[in-house]
This record gives sequence, structure tokens and C-alpha cells, in this order.
Amino acid sequence: MRDHLVLWVNGIRREVRGGDAFLTLSDWLRGGLGLVGTKIMCAEGDCGACTVLVAEPAESGHLRWLPIDSCIRFLFQLDGCHVVTVEGLAKDGDLAPVQQAMVECHGSQCGFCTPGFVMALAGGCAAKSRGEPLDWRKELSGNLCRCTGYVSIFEAAARAETEATWIAERFADDSWAVEGARLRRESLDVHGDLDGVAMRATCPATVAEALAARREPEARVVAGATDLGVLWNKGKLRPRHWLDLSRVVDLRGISVVEAGQAPRLTALGLHEEHAGVGPCEGGATLVAGPLATWTDMLAVCSERCGEAVAVLEAFGGPQIRHVGTLGGNIVNGSPIADSLPLLFAMEATLEVASGAGTRTVPIDAFYKGYKQLDLAADELLVRVRMPLPAPGDILRLVKVSRRRDLDISTFTSAIHVRRDGDTIAAARIAFGGVGPTVVRMRRTEAALAGQPFTEETFRRAGEVAVGEIRPLTDVRGSSDYRLQLARNVFLKFFHEQQVAVG
Ligand SMILES: Cc1cc2nc3c(=O)[nH]c(=O)nc-3n(C[C@H](O)[C@H](O)[C@H](O)COP(=O)(O)OP(=O)(O)OC[C@H]3O[C@@H](n4cnc5c(N)ncnc54)[C@H](O)[C@@H]3O)c2cc1C
Ligand code: FES
Ligand code: FES
Repeated sequence: MRDHLVLWVNGIRREVRGGDAFLTLSDWLRGGLGLVGTKIMCAEGDCGACTVLVAEPAESGHLRWLPIDSCIRFLFQLDGCHVVTVEGLAKDGDLAPVQQAMVECHGSQCGFCTPGFVMALAGGCAAKSRGEPLDWRKELSGNLCRCTGYVSIFEAAARAETEATWIAERFADDSWAVEGARLRRESLDVHGDLDGVAMRATCPATVAEALAARREPEARVVAGATDLGVLWNKGKLRPRHWLDLSRVVDLRGISVVEAGQAPRLTALGLHEEHAGVGPCEGGATLVAGPLATWTDMLAVCSERCGEAVAVLEAFGGPQIRHVGTLGGNIVNGSPIADSLPLLFAMEATLEVASGAGTRTVPIDAFYKGYKQLDLAADELLVRVRMPLPAPGDILRLVKVSRRRDLDISTFTSAIHVRRDGDTIAAARIAFGGVGPTVVRMRRTEAALAGQPFTEETFRRAGEVAVGEIRPLTDVRGSSDYRLQLARNVFLKFFHEQQVAVG
């Protein structure tokens, strides 16, 4: 096992040993390499000032330069990857087109947010050069500016976009990626001293190694680190031993398995002994490794579960979606986790594994109380299976938050209804933000089943729903407000459906 990291920064190969491996990427860039163009403002993934581009070599050889928040990514997670900071954009003294556009459009005032915006703009150009659709409002939703105002930044974005091909030329040298891919296939066991504390990071390359490492009771599992990185920066979490899953290819991947088809294990990459179950019953099923990111989820849902798209697009900003994982959201177990109402309403199942084998848990049985899970200390979440809506099913997701972009939910809901003509054949409903866990609304479901598809039916369902929950009052909303939302979401569902068909 390798005991040190190798990564590239702005084209230069770096080896990292000892305590530095446990720093956040932004702290290392600034303190270790003196690349102070990367700013730290919130240290919580909220403002984008610390945005850098990262490419991880893929088995396919295809490189995707993605913007991420460097303040909540640990250095040991970047072994084998290439990081480009704002210092790496200019070439031979000439500003990159994104930088030039910001200058010409007056996109910067105090300048503190500017490197982050420039890197997010570069990320948008990289997406465009890959042929992906580009919507700058979404692309820049992970960046905050408090003094320039966004108009001139959007003008700069529009101007930069016309020269988006520069980024492919600038990053054309991919000679590092051959070694990077080899490094990503190796497992790591790094030890070092950080502020006088002996630290260790175990970074397995296979599921078997990950499960073996999971036997260490002290080791804290980390995937995308978008939850744990925030806790680390706030000093609320100080594990001495990290178990980093981010290079376990077999826990990644996402695919849709059609009815009756055997799971395409090669597509998913999971080893057969961790596959758990055979061919999918019923309709099509989304099958994902827990390391599937929100960007991966968005791509698949855009094709096969369009109703989830609006909520997924409001999940963090691009920097969060590129690294935050489905498994991390599930295991973090927040009652306002945005994936959970969808997973509950579609009756997803989770496969969890330990050295002793694999078991399957229905998602609504996974949560025992606030952040209390049916997951033993030696188990990992290894697969998520979510049936997709059948043709004719109606699925509606609602996320209510104080801000549209990059905000934590006050209330979430998923309503999934199967119709039989004018009658409701079955309903599956889940609410978040109304209790210590996401709640499956079984009494409300029973009140809807067999009823005519009318406004009166949904009005009554709202009344049943408010009797089924006891939401708290907190900084995001009062109990009364949440009850009102729980009631109204049924009328919204009914009327939106009337508009859709009429
Ligand atoms: C700025 C910002 C915006 C955000 N916006 C949203 C949002 O809109 N909606 C939302 O729901 N969340 C949001 N989040 C929270 C977070 O991004 C998600 O919960 C994300 O999916 C967590 O995934 P991760 O891989 O980063 O988890 P990590 O931080 O790596 O881990 C989270 C937890 O899961 C455990 N874990 C991870 N994988 C496994 C596994 N396979 N087996 C066992 N345990 C595992 C870890 O030990 C840890 O306890 C946001 C976070 C930030 C910082
Ligand atoms: S410093 Fe704000 S997102 Fe990193
Ligand atoms: S230019 Fe001052 S915060 Fe954006």
C-alpha cells in the first residue's frame, strides 16, 4: 500500500507526505503551495470563493474538468487527480478568456469572490466544450458575490462562452492522466501528524478492502465530504482515522435496469457478491452505487425521471453536485435531505454489506430516529435501487426553502400516485422537515387509495396529513407554516395535474 499522495497542480506533479495529506485542499493550496488566489470565505461550501477545477482520470480515458469547492475536500481524496487553480489559467502572461471577459465586463469590485467566479466560468466553458448544455444561471449558482452584482458577471459569462473552446486547448496535455489512472487504482494508507494529532487515511481501491477497513471501529467513512468537510471546518468532527471511499470504482456508477433485465453489473461496477438480488421485478429500476454523485443522478433522471430534475438542480450548486453523493445523503440521514422523499415515495431499497455478507433494507426502515440508522458499525451502504415511475404514474416533488439556490430545505415532499381511470389506485407519500426523520405518510396514503381523483379528495388528504405529523419550529420555519405546507401540497398536486392534462 502506498503511504503518500501524488497529484498534479497547474501541470506540476506534487508528492505529499505526512500531515499535509489531512488538510483541506484550499488550506494546502494556500498554506503549502502559496497559491493564495484560491480564497476562503465561508469554509462551508456555500460561497464558491474557493472554487478550483479538478479532473479525475477515468477508466475510459475521458477527462472531465469539474468545478469543486476546495474548502470542503480533503487532500487525501485527490490522489491521482489534477487540480487547476486560478493561477493556472493565464498562459505566457496572457489572461485566459474567462479572466479577460471579467475585466472587460467589470465583473469584479472588491475581488474577493472573483477567483471563484473565474473558476466557475472556466467550469462552464469546460462543460460547453464537452457538448453539455450550458445555463449560466445554474452554472454560477454555487458562487456568491456581495458587491459587484451579478449583471456584469453574467455579461462576462456570455462573452466567455463564445470562446469556450480555449479550455480544451489549454488542458490538452493529458500525459499526467496515465499515471493518475494507475495511482487511482492503488490503495493508500497514509499516516501523518496534523497539529500534534496522529492522523491516518485509509483509501481502499476495492469493495473488499473497504469492508476490511470498515472493521476498524475508529475509522470514519467519507465519500464526497460535502457534509463531513463542513463539520471538520467547524471543529465539530475530529476523526483521527478516515476511511475514504472516493476511489472505489465498484461503488460508483449508475444505470437504469429495465423490467425483467438482470442488473448490468459491469455498468454499475459492483462485484457480484455485493449485488444482492437478481433481475428487477416490476418496472424499470434505477440502480446506483452509493458513490454516484448528484451530477450523475441529474444526468440519469433527466432521461428517466424528469420530475426529479427541478429538485436535483436545486441541490447545492454545481460544486456540491459534482462531489456530493447519493450514499452520503442517505447515510447522513438528515430529515431534510433532498433525496429522501423521492426514495421513500418510490420505495427504494438499500443494500448494506459487511465482511459477513449483504442485506437489503427498505429505505423507510433504515431510519430509526434522528440520525439513527439500521447500519451496523462494520457495514457500508453499497447499492441503492429505486423503482422508476411506471408510465401513467404521477410523481411530484416539492422543495420549499428560503432561497431558491443553494439553500437547505424547510419542507420537502414527494407524492407518487397511480391512477386507474378517474380513481386513485395507490398513493405513496413522503414528507421531510416535519419530524426527526423523513416520514412515510401511510395514513394519508390509505385515505387516498380507492378515492376519486377530485379536488375534494386531495383537500381531505391534506387534513389527514396534518394529523399525521408534528413538525418543530426552528430557524427555517414555524410548525404552523410547515403544517400549512403539508396541507397545501395536496391541492398543488391536484391543480398542477389538472393543468398538465387540460
Ligand atoms: C453548500 C452545501 C449545499 C448543500 N445542499 C444540499 C441540498 O440542497 N440538499 C441536500 O439534501 N443536501 C445538501 N447538502 C448536503 C450534502 O451535500 C449531501 O448530504 C451529500 O449528498 C452528502 O454526500 P457526501 O458524499 O458529500 O457525504 P460525506 O460528507 O462524505 O458523508 C456523509 C455521511 O455519510 C457517511 N457515508 C458516506 N458514504 C457512505 C457509505 N457508502 N456507507 C456508509 N456510510 C457512508 C459518512 O460517514 C457521513 O456520515 C449540501 C451541503 C453543502 C456543503
Ligand atoms: S470558502 Fe465558501 S465555498 Fe469554500
Ligand atoms: S467583487 Fe466583492 S464579493 Fe464579489
